[in-house]
Amino acid sequence: MLEHLDRLAPDPILGLMAAYRADSDARKIDLGVGVYRDEQGETPIMQAVRTAERAVLERQTTKTYVAPAGNPAFNAAMRRLALGADGALSESPRVCAVQAPGGCGALRLGAELLRAADPHTTVYVSSPTWANHVPLLSGSGLKLERYPYYDPATGGVAFEAMMRALEGLAPRSVVLLHASCHNPTGADLTPTQWQQVCDLLQRRALVPFIDMAYQGLGEGLEADAAGLRLLCTALPEALIAVSCSKNFGLYRERVGCLLVLGESAAAAEAALTQLTRIARGLYSMPPDHGAAIVAEILGSETLRAAWRAELDGMRARIMQLRAAVAAALAAACPSKDFSHILRQRGMFSYLGISAEVVRVLREQHHVYMTDDSRVNVAGLRMQSIPYFAAAVAQALGR
Ligand code: LMR
Repeated sequence: MLEHLDRLAPDPILGLMAAYRADSDARKIDLGVGVYRDEQGETPIMQAVRTAERAVLERQTTKTYVAPAGNPAFNAAMRRLALGADGALSESPRVCAVQAPGGCGALRLGAELLRAADPHTTVYVSSPTWANHVPLLSGSGLKLERYPYYDPATGGVAFEAMMRALEGLAPRSVVLLHASCHNPTGADLTPTQWQQVCDLLQRRALVPFIDMAYQGLGEGLEADAAGLRLLCTALPEALIAVSCSKNFGLYRERVGCLLVLGESAAAAEAALTQLTRIARGLYSMPPDHGAAIVAEILGSETLRAAWRAELDGMRARIMQLRAAVAAALAAACPSKDFSHILRQRGMFSYLGISAEVVRVLREQHHVYMTDDSRVNVAGLRMQSIPYFAAAVAQALGR
């Protein structure tokens, strides 16, 4: 039976990781997969994570199962981190939380919950969106459509087109939004635009599904969650998929959480029973280790402050890299505008070059990025920027 299976092309993002590893050129630069790197090119383990990990291991007395909903201390901490420490939303009985294997697991849990609620639900994702949103969400059986989002001419959000499209959606459609650091464009909604989106969702009875994978890496921990908090305060229902991969550097530990806001406490309680049943049927229980580390950090004032300082440092470094690469590209390619890189936030930006130029960069200059010219700015090093800018100029033929 298996002999009839087609051989599939590699995943557009993960396939690049393998190609980069196989390249032996010393000048190679990996701007593909979205992981943070320091000036040495390493993805370091955060100090707060190391300390918390030691404490967790020392205290741990058993390896017995957690539970389908995961670690309660972690879930409580994620509610406060995402929804605000003042408790207005995070302590609301209308909210339930389920630990998930990464932000991906949370997205899939959310999609499965929506399907359980109404199998005819359509989810609208931004055009473009993170490539893996498509298999993660549509794998649940839900229909996926797109709404316009990015304006390559300005490097910003095509807000009017986006609003026009959302205005025409059927009530109870689900709109997937990126909380901050839009992947792949780096173009985020302004606070005023969040308010306008919120008003529209309310008026048209649309349900937001918010992906928050980069909290703290855009404008700051609170600012990056402001849009989703606005929505959760005003709207009857919302789903939020939170990832701890990037802001805690816990990529391989697969730490995430799904938060669901229901119209009432009873709706949230029912959603929780559905989610634990869905989790049980998909993977039974989430992994323990990473979530225990996050709970340890967020549960200790000292560790939390240390983590926050490290996170602030990562964000500051990304901003510096954005400024340096925008300036280097402006000098190397004076006839092309790269200033959007400076205005955008988070790990990603489009270079705005063709797939052919991307191929030349990869094959002749050992610079790796996805075919749509998404670069992980956080994968650059100050010392590699001159080589990178010269390579882009040469590949563009100027
Ligand atoms: C990315 O967009 O590169 C990251 O979110 C990693 C991934 O799994 O694709």
